Amino acid sequence: METMRFTKLWLWIPLLLVATAEAQSLEGCLNKCGDVEIPYPFGIGVQSRTGRNCSLQESFELTCNSSTSTLLYGDHPVSNISVQGGHLDISMSVSKVCYNQPGVALLNPQSLVNNPSFAVSSVQNKFISVGCDTLGIVQFQNNRTSYGGCVTLCNAPPQQDLNDKTCSGTGCCQVDIPVGMRNITVVASSVFNHTNVSDFNNCSYGFVAKQNWFNFSVDYLRDFPFDMVPLVLDWTVSDHTCHAASTRSDYACTANTDCADSDDGFGYNCKCKPGFDGNPYHPDGCHDVDECQQESANNCISKENCRNTIGSFECFCPPGYSGNGTTAGGCYPPLSKNPLTMVFTGISIGLAALFMSMSWLYLVSQKRKHMKQKEKFFRQNGGSILQQQLSGRHETSLAVKIFTAEELKRATNNYHDNLIIGRGGFGTVYKGFLTDKKIVAIKKSKLMNQSQVEQFINEVIVLSQINHRNIVKLLGCCLETEVPLLVYEFINNGTLYDLIHNKGKSALVTWETRLRIASEVAGALSYLHSAASISIVHRDVKSANILLDESCTAKVSDFGASRLVPLDQTALATMVQGTFGYLDPEYMQTNQLTEKSDVYSFGVVVIELLTGKKAVSFERPEEEVNLAMHFLSYLKQGHLHEILEDGIINNENKERVKEVAMLAARCVRLRGEERPSMKEVAAELEGIKMVGDQLGVKRELNLEETQTLLGETSKFNEYGDSIDHGNRVWDSITDHVLIDFDSGR
Ligand SMILES: *[C@@H]1O[C@H](CO)[C@@H](O)[C@H](O)[C@H]1NC(C)=O
Ligand SMILES: *[C@@H]1O[C@H](CO)[C@@H](O)[C@H](O)[C@H]1NC(C)=O
Ligand SMILES: *[C@@H]1O[C@H](CO)[C@@H](O)[C@H](O)[C@H]1NC(C)=O
Ligand SMILES: *[C@@H]1O[C@H](CO)[C@@H](O)[C@H](O)[C@H]1NC(C)=O
Ligand SMILES: *[C@@H]1O[C@H](CO)[C@@H](O)[C@H](O)[C@H]1NC(C)=O
Ligand SMILES: *[C@@H]1O[C@H](CO)[C@@H](O)[C@H](O)[C@H]1NC(C)=O
Ligand SMILES: *[C@@H]1O[C@H](CO)[C@@H](O)[C@H](O)[C@H]1NC(C)=O
Ligand SMILES: *[C@@H]1O[C@H](CO)[C@@H](O)[C@H](O)[C@H]1NC(C)=O
Ligand SMILES: *[C@@H]1O[C@H](CO)[C@@H](O)[C@H](O)[C@H]1NC(C)=O
Ligand SMILES: *[C@@H]1O[C@H](CO)[C@@H](O)[C@H](O)[C@H]1NC(C)=O
Repeated sequence: METMRFTKLWLWIPLLLVATAEAQSLEGCLNKCGDVEIPYPFGIGVQSRTGRNCSLQESFELTCNSSTSTLLYGDHPVSNISVQGGHLDISMSVSKVCYNQPGVALLNPQSLVNNPSFAVSSVQNKFISVGCDTLGIVQFQNNRTSYGGCVTLCNAPPQQDLNDKTCSGTGCCQVDIPVGMRNITVVASSVFNHTNVSDFNNCSYGFVAKQNWFNFSVDYLRDFPFDMVPLVLDWTVSDHTCHAASTRSDYACTANTDCADSDDGFGYNCKCKPGFDGNPYHPDGCHDVDECQQESANNCISKENCRNTIGSFECFCPPGYSGNGTTAGGCYPPLSKNPLTMVFTGISIGLAALFMSMSWLYLVSQKRKHMKQKEKFFRQNGGSILQQQLSGRHETSLAVKIFTAEELKRATNNYHDNLIIGRGGFGTVYKGFLTDKKIVAIKKSKLMNQSQVEQFINEVIVLSQINHRNIVKLLGCCLETEVPLLVYEFINNGTLYDLIHNKGKSALVTWETRLRIASEVAGALSYLHSAASISIVHRDVKSANILLDESCTAKVSDFGASRLVPLDQTALATMVQGTFGYLDPEYMQTNQLTEKSDVYSFGVVVIELLTGKKAVSFERPEEEVNLAMHFLSYLKQGHLHEILEDGIINNENKERVKEVAMLAARCVRLRGEERPSMKEVAAELEGIKMVGDQLGVKRELNLEETQTLLGETSKFNEYGDSIDHGNRVWDSITDHVLIDFDSGR
C-alpha cells in the first residue's frame, strides 16, 4: 500500500507541474488528447482522486479515442479549444448528394450535435454550396426553425471563365451564418429533374466551413476532395445571463474574472480581468500578469523603470529624475528636460572633471619635479655637508641661516636688474629685502664645480663664525638653487674705491677718516689672519672690496676668493686671483698667495688712501702705471708730499702721515717675509691713530710749523729721522724697500 501510494505520488508530480504551469485543466483530469489540450470547463471523465466530473457541465464532456488520439465532441473531432475566446474548433461532414439516378437527388442532411451550449460562430464561418445544379440549405433550429442557403448553377462542360478560387455563384456559392444559430442541419439537393446522368458533374455539396478555409476550384466540380470541413463553434456556459448566473452557486467565473453575456443572450462566458491571465473557469482563478517581465506587455523605457501592480504596472523614473518612465514620456535629470542638454551637461561635467584632475596631476608632478630639483641642488651645493657640520657643532655663535630659494627670490623681486648692486668675476650681488624688513646683499656666485663644494661649505661655516665690526657679516646661504647664494648684511654707503676716487667726495675725506679706515681694515685683516681658529687669507684686498656704512666705518667684504689656510700650512697653491695692482708681486714667482699677500694688497690700499690715486692707471706715464712702485720711487727720492692727496697733510699730522707712508712702504715690499704681519700693521696704525688723538689739540697749535716742514721735500730723510716714533723702523724699511725695489726690477 505504502509503495503504491508512493508511486502514485511520483506519477502526480508531472501532472501537478503541468497544472500549476498551465492551470488549464482540473487536477487529476486528462489535460491533453493527442495534440489538443483540454482546458476546463471541458473535460473527460472524472477526477481520479475526488471522483468529480472533469467538465463543468455535461455539454462540455469530451471523449478521447485513445487508438487514434483524437479528441471528440460527440462524433466530431476537436482540433482546438479556446477558453479565453470561448471557441471550439471542430470538423463536420460535408452534405453530399449525387444524382446518378434519373430524378431529384436524395437529401443527405448533416447535423451538428443538438446542444444549446454551442452556436455556430457567425463571425468565423460561412455556409458554402458547390455544384452545377445545387440547392444548399442550412437549417437552424432554435425554438423555431429558420433557414438559409444558396443555389449554384453552371453549364456543362465547365467554362473557362469560371473564376478559380472565387465562390461567387457559378459552381460555388456562400452565405453568412446568422448570429446565435444552434442545432444546425445542412442539406444539399438539385434543383432540376436530371434525366441524363452522364453530366460532368452529377453531385451537389453543402457544408459550413471556417471562413477563408475553403478555396474554390473548378476541379472540385468533377472531383470534390473533402469529406470533413473545419468550423468554429462559440460555446457559452449554461443558459443564463451573467446577471442571473452570478448569484447562483454554479456560477462558473472564478477569481479575478469578468463575466460576458453571449451575443444572443443565451448563456455567458468568463474572462480574466485586464492585467490577469489564466483560466477564468479554473478554481484557481486568474493570476496577475507581471507585465514588467514581458517587454511587449509594458511601455516602460526599461525593466528597471517598471513596477508591477496587481492587475497592472507602473512606469517610474529614478529618484531625482522627472518624467513618467514610459517610452513616450522618458526620464530626465532635474537640471534639464532636454535629453540633448542632458548629454551635453554630462559631457561637460565629465570633461571638466577630466581637465581638473589632469591639471591637478600636472601641478603635483611639476611641484614634485621642482622639489626634486631643489633637493638635487641642495645636495650638489653641499647642503648635506653643511647640515652635518651644523649639527656637529654646539657653538651658539654659529648663526648661519639656510634660506629657501623662494625667500630670496621674493627678496630680490625675482633677481631684478634694478636691484643689482655689484657685478664682477665672483658673480652678481643683489640688494634684497627680507620679509622682516631687513635689507641684505645677496651674492649669486658663479657656477662651481663639485670639487669646490666642500671648500665652499667650509668657508660658509668659517665666515659665519666671524663676528668683527669691520667685516661684512655673512647671514646665511641658500643651496636650493643651481648656484649657491650667499646672504650678507647690506652696507649702504658704497666702497672705499668710490670714496677715494670720486673727486667730489674725496675732498671731504679728512686725514683722520683715512687713517681710521686704514686702521679698521688692518684690524679686520689681522683678525682674519690670526683671530679665527684657522687662518683666512682674503686674497682680494682692494679698495673696491672695502665697504663703508653711513658713519664711514669700513667693512671688509667679498671673500669669494678667500681661502682657508690650515695652521700647518703657510701657503696655498692657487689659480691666478686677486686684482692687478694689488696683487703680491711674489705671487708671480711662487704662484702662492699667503697672508703676506694680503699685507701687500693692504699696503696698496693705504697708498691709495694717501695719494688718492688708483692702484693701476694707464693714463699715467709708463713708470707710474703701478701705484705702489710709483709711490716707492717718490718716497725714495724724498718727494712724498708731491704724491700725497691734496689737503691731506698739515703741520699737525705731517709726522703721522709720514709714519703711515713708511708703513705702507713696508707692506709693499717685494719679499713677503720682509713685510710686517697684519697684526703688526694693525698695532702700528692703532698707535699712530692714538697719538693723533692725544696730540690733537697740541698739534693744532703747531699747524704752521708743520706746513713749513712739509714744504721741504728734500729734507725727507731728516724728516724721518726727526720723528722719534718709528724712527728705527723707518731706517730699516727704507733700505729694504730700496733694495727690494731694485732687485724686483
Ligand atoms: C457528472 O456527469 C454525469 C454525466 O456525464 C452527470 O450525470 C452528473 O450529474 C454529473 N455530475 C455533476 C456533479 O455535475
Ligand atoms: C476509435 O476510432 C476507431 C477508428 O475510427 C474506431 O474503430 C473505434 O471504435 C473508436 N473507438 C472509440 C472508443 O470511439
Ligand atoms: C486554438 O485557438 C486559439 C484561439 O483561436 C489559437 O490561438 C491557437 O493557436 C489555436 N491552436 C491550434 C493548435 O490551432
Ligand atoms: C455520374 O453518374 C453516372 C451514372 O451513375 C456515373 O457513371 C458517373 O461516373 C457519375 N459521374 C461522376 C462525375 O460522378
Ligand atoms: C423526372 O423525369 C422522369 C422522366 O422524364 C419522370 O418519369 C419523373 O417523373 C420526373 N420526376 C419528377 C419529380 O418530376
Ligand atoms: C424557446 O423555448 C423555450 C421552451 O421550450 C422557451 O422557454 C423560450 O422562451 C423560447 N425562446 C425563444 C427565443 O422563443
Ligand atoms: C435540433 O434539430 C433536430 C432535427 O432537426 C431536432 O430533432 C431537435 O429537437 C433540435 N433541437 C433543438 C434544441 O431545437
Ligand atoms: C441525355 O443526353 C443525351 C446526350 O446529351 C441526349 O441525347 C438525350 O436526349 C438526353 N436524355 C434526356 C432524357 O434528356
Ligand atoms: C485556402 O487558401 C488560404 C489562403 O491562401 C489557405 O490558408 C488555406 O489553407 C487554403 N485552404 C485549403 C483547404 O487549402
Ligand atoms: C507619460 O508621458 C507621456 C509624455 O509626456 C504621455 O504621452 C503619457 O501619456 C504619459 N503616461 C502616463 C502613464 O502618464
